[in-house]
Amino acid sequence: MNVLLIGSGGRENAMAWKIAQSSILTQLYIAPGNPGTSTHGINVDINPLDFDKVKDLVISKNIGLVVVGPEDPLVKGIHDFFSIDKALKHIPVIGPKKAGALLEGSKDFSKRFMVRHGIPTAAFQSFKESSKKEAVEFLNSLTPPYVLKADGLAAGKGVIICNTLGDAIDTLNDFFEGRFGSAGEIVVIEEYLGGIELSVFVLTDGMSYVMLPEAKDYKRIGDGDTGLNTGGMGSVSPVPFCNGAFMEKVVTRIVDPTINGLKSDGIDYLGFIFIGLMNVDGNPYVIEYNVRLGDPETQVVLPRIQSDFLELLISASKRELSGLKVVFSKQCASSVILASEGYPGSYAKGKSIGGRLESDGAVLFHAGTKYGANGELITSGGRVFSAVGLADSHEESLANAYRLANAIEFKGKYYRKDIGRDLMFSSEK
Ligand code: AMP
Ligand code: GLY
Repeated sequence: MNVLLIGSGGRENAMAWKIAQSSILTQLYIAPGNPGTSTHGINVDINPLDFDKVKDLVISKNIGLVVVGPEDPLVKGIHDFFSIDKALKHIPVIGPKKAGALLEGSKDFSKRFMVRHGIPTAAFQSFKESSKKEAVEFLNSLTPPYVLKADGLAAGKGVIICNTLGDAIDTLNDFFEGRFGSAGEIVVIEEYLGGIELSVFVLTDGMSYVMLPEAKDYKRIGDGDTGLNTGGMGSVSPVPFCNGAFMEKVVTRIVDPTINGLKSDGIDYLGFIFIGLMNVDGNPYVIEYNVRLGDPETQVVLPRIQSDFLELLISASKRELSGLKVVFSKQCASSVILASEGYPGSYAKGKSIGGRLESDGAVLFHAGTKYGANGELITSGGRVFSAVGLADSHEESLANAYRLANAIEFKGKYYRKDIGRDLMFSSEK
């Protein structure tokens, strides 16, 4: 089968790497891909939001399955586009239609969904500018810190946590004054949940589902979880506290009601659900839903799947997930993101990349790289690479990831030095 993978980040490099290992793959195409994906398939330089161009590619390359990496094409309706086009509607798309993508595209929608289906989450209310007075009253009723979220997609920057009521009211004004554009026209204000975060990943065919390995992401730019939020600076899998008893609660209180809720709301959902959770004293609460895999979580989740990933995707597309079990590897995986100095603020691009791009026990995934005018590899983004270590213990997998991170050279290379350190002492390996 020929497969088209949509996207160009570290997540898509990891997906391309995994799909390319499948015995049933004929040819993988990636649109637009990056230099890392080009070692696993053929990159095609088109904008995934240009659905007509995607259509031409799918037809000319006889694609049998489309796998969507990022949320943007889903929220903008790539799956809906396929389902109403005569020439495309028989070609399955892994990723929900617009109605399901709202779980990520609108925080207000996803919070209402959780409440409707009895899924544990932080108490909340949503406000438009016309009800600013009520928003301030609601803030007054909460205890600090205060959590304010833009309703719409804001590239991971739409959540602001304020320590004082004054800051929270200023932030509310910022939202209504257009700091996040139309994404902030509705503001979700919610109760602060204290605990440890982790993410679980589900692949569903709308009727049944399989669980993929869980992961923990390190979101802040600085060591010790300090500084600005980023797309993610590293990740580990498995998560030591995610034992059988905790996962049982996740499945019965969160995953089952989510899949049943989609069904009872009449939302036909084919694709991944990435559930961001807070472990509050041993009980899971949903922080957010994403309608795709995470980046850099995918870089540690996929290496821990022993089953043929493409076969799993095809089973999902045929609505045949029921009864399937995904085989997980016992290995530990850790990723360390190599970023451009200045990220998540402004940073320089075009720095030449040297050093060694491989080392034992590790896999390198590209994110923000490209080939320069003379065919040399240069930086082109904030997150440049994920160095992923694999080994029998977290300690060794981290050592392998860091050895690779050290071996790569580019001007302004920055990475966190403490990925996984918080888990080492609580770890049961
Ligand atoms: P989100 O984009 O909704 O995942 O939020 C980004 C980050 O903000 C999360 O990963 C959490 O670290 C934090 N966060 C969001 N909602 C809450 C909450 N209700 N309580 C505590 N932290 C939160
Ligand atoms: N690493 C968080 C995300 O992909 O949203």
